[in-house]
Amino acid sequence: MSNQHLRLGVNVLASGRHDAAWKTLPDPASLSTDIDRFIAISQSAERALLDAIFLADGPGGLVEESYLRPWRALDPTVLNTALSQHTEYIGLVTTTSSLFGHPYTVARQIASLDYVSQGRAAWNIITSQTSPALQAYGLEKGWDQSERYQRAEEFVQIIQNLWDSFPLEAIEADLDSSVFVNPKKLNPFDLQGQHFSSRGALSVPRTPQGRPVIFQAGQSADSKAFGARYADALFTGQRILENAQGFYQDTKALAASYGRQPDHLLVMPGLFPILGSTDEEAQRHKRKLDDLLDSRSLRAELARHLALDVDDLADLDAPLPHDKIRANEALVPIASRWHRKEMLSEAHAHNWNTRELLFSNIIGGHRIYTGTPEGFAQNMIDWVDAKAADGFNLNIDVQPAGLDVIADYVVPALQKQGRFRREYQTRTLREHLGLPIPQLHSVEQALAV
Ligand SMILES: Cc1cc2nc3c(=O)[nH]c(=O)nc-3n(C[C@H](O)[C@H](O)[C@H](O)COP(=O)(O)O)c2cc1C
Repeated sequence: MSNQHLRLGVNVLASGRHDAAWKTLPDPASLSTDIDRFIAISQSAERALLDAIFLADGPGGLVEESYLRPWRALDPTVLNTALSQHTEYIGLVTTTSSLFGHPYTVARQIASLDYVSQGRAAWNIITSQTSPALQAYGLEKGWDQSERYQRAEEFVQIIQNLWDSFPLEAIEADLDSSVFVNPKKLNPFDLQGQHFSSRGALSVPRTPQGRPVIFQAGQSADSKAFGARYADALFTGQRILENAQGFYQDTKALAASYGRQPDHLLVMPGLFPILGSTDEEAQRHKRKLDDLLDSRSLRAELARHLALDVDDLADLDAPLPHDKIRANEALVPIASRWHRKEMLSEAHAHNWNTRELLFSNIIGGHRIYTGTPEGFAQNMIDWVDAKAADGFNLNIDVQPAGLDVIADYVVPALQKQGRFRREYQTRTLREHLGLPIPQLHSVEQALAV
């Protein structure tokens, strides 16, 4: 039997992953911007001894989500910087786009966060392009799939080279010679890409983690290849064990094909627990939250994901209109296809009707587990032992109460089986995750990519 420790992060959302969470919390209007709440959530995650808190984000612009629930209002780099001063051990993952803006800005921000947090920073790369983002950046149109990943590759190559461009040995601070930074010891580079270019060295020296950890969120074949090459960990969205095993095998093999050690690329699907002291209590808790949802807007959301008319989903207790769903597949935007595929595989596996699919986290996209903390801990262990994941990025129903259940019941259940730390024994996020410090990139390597 494996005794591998699970890697666990938490996706920190303003109110919680359940779309009705905000309706159960005091002062809902301030949830998206209340720093004290975010501090309390991060401290609760640290009490649970989790590896990292994860701040997801969109590529830019005010998203439609804000019309329906608390949204991601605050810049995640700024927020993580604040949280770093109220926590000691937990990793801090900042999501930013690899399509918009310039990589120098991101390289400097995340490297600075690594210093400010004393080695706990990570960058989560997203490659999504949405209408609000295009509008916010004043662009008429986006990029097609292959151009999107070309752009993302240049973006990440520039960032990795910038992170390697200023070795610590270059800081001489020599009193006799009066040399502070010795320019001869810098590792400047010149990358002239089709989409992005950058020359010189970063103003931040090599960071406490060597390089901040790189997460990547995506699911398509292009995204897998990109992540297997550049990321330390993949944030994914499989809802079915067999799909997750396939994804896990593919990405580890891809990492090996790039000359990487497969264990140095972690796979962490999102997972959404709804817990109670018995299975029945957990089901009751879920129903209570589900009853607060606006099923009309949820139906519109599901119709959008499946390229259907809302009226095709009028009868919640009817079977899903499978023929029409199949016929309309090509109408689903590429970026939503992973989400659609995973939802439908799960609906198919459990023979769900419209209602069951509707209340299965169609907006967040991740697999729901409803049951007891012990059952949930075992389910996570089973997935890891079945080589479907190295750990999970938890989505909490209502924060911070749901996170306290993780700290007080789920983590002890994992510890009892020897599958989770009993205290933090390491200091940096890289160390928590068991990832090595990357070697310095040479200039020649940079130019060869
Ligand atoms: C698990 C998961 C999490 C994601 N999180 C975000 C996010 O926080 N913000 C965002 O704008 N896009 C997010 N994305 C979208 C991806 O960055 C990417 O744009 C999307 O998966 C489409 O690209 P692909 O079809 O090549 O995978 C996420 C995707 C996945 C699979």
